[in-house]
Amino acid sequence: MSFQIQPASPSQPNRCQLFGPGSRPAIFEKMAASKADVINLDLEDSVGPDDKSEARQNVIDALNDINWGSKTVSVRINGLDTPFWYRDVVDLLEKSGDRIDQIMIPKAGNASDIYAVDALVSSIETAMNRKKPINFEVIIETAAGLAHVNEIAAASPRMRAMSLGAADYAASMGMQTTGIGGTQENYYMLGADGQHQLADPWHAPVVAIVAACRTHGLLPVDGPFGDFSDDAGFTAQAKRCATLGMVGKWAIHPKQVGLANAVFTPSEAQLAEAREIIAAMEEATNSGQGAAVYKGRLIDIASIKQAEVIVKQADLIIG
Ligand code: COA
Ligand code: MG
Repeated sequence: MSFQIQPASPSQPNRCQLFGPGSRPAIFEKMAASKADVINLDLEDSVGPDDKSEARQNVIDALNDINWGSKTVSVRINGLDTPFWYRDVVDLLEKSGDRIDQIMIPKAGNASDIYAVDALVSSIETAMNRKKPINFEVIIETAAGLAHVNEIAAASPRMRAMSLGAADYAASMGMQTTGIGGTQENYYMLGADGQHQLADPWHAPVVAIVAACRTHGLLPVDGPFGDFSDDAGFTAQAKRCATLGMVGKWAIHPKQVGLANAVFTPSEAQLAEAREIIAAMEEATNSGQGAAVYKGRLIDIASIKQAEVIVKQADLIIG
């Protein structure tokens, strides 16, 4: 228990973050026309070293020229262990207008990483007299990132969201996998009948990210699911993350946008049930009771809070 009230998360829809390589400007208009809440223009790992400068310029042009509507527009800069990231930040902030909302910092390892980017961003914002502060989102995708997830979440008032990057995370942890997210056939328990009961190897980092985000008022997001021919696998991964408290998931192909939106938008039935629970509890409270029975099961004050999570999610999306 704590007397401190848990901070609210940013009120921005974040059901799906659609990625596209900065080196592929032909898809930018398609990204803008998509139903993703967040657009991530990538300068990092989907862009080869020889294409970094051109991709950076493509992204600056796209930020200035394309109508991104009401979407949150974020640019993934290169990692702090590369010779590219400082130029990404300087050029983006000096040459793009106000349409850039967020910078995504990959492979965040500790609070000092965020501090370093914050110092550079703050200096440029002041020098350029930029009126709209840039927000940060990070990817937790290394052993150090997971070990320091709480200090990273608290590292700057610019922080808005954290994603789990399954592929780099698996590599950094030395995990025996090559897939990007999802089911891993060797991660199982043996059932009494000798059958393999598959478990979720991403459970621990997902929960750690959700806890750090909820403690510090950020949005927890699941990262990429590489096999974009596997809709059922994507949906299963997204549902597990939604159940554990994440608010959205990346799409690395446009066909994944609808799948993510479907999981992270409360259904009519979920919303109706949440409203009924709130109404039933209001009735109970008015008659002096702290608990009530709804469809044969106990509901109490905590049930109101659970139901309000769903109602708030729906309000954010429907407006
Ligand atoms: N956003 C919007 N539109 C996209 C897109 C994206 N990320 N990727 C592909 N498209 C478009 C294609 O241009 C094509 O459009 P068309 O029907 O008008 O011709 C359509 O969607 C179907 O594309 P498809 O042929 O199935 O895929 P592809 O071979 O062109 O590209 C990928 C596949 C995976 C290489 C591509 O989706 C991609 O680059 N994804 C993002 C990768 C990334 O950013 N990674 C970093 C984060 S992990
Ligand atoms: Mg990565």
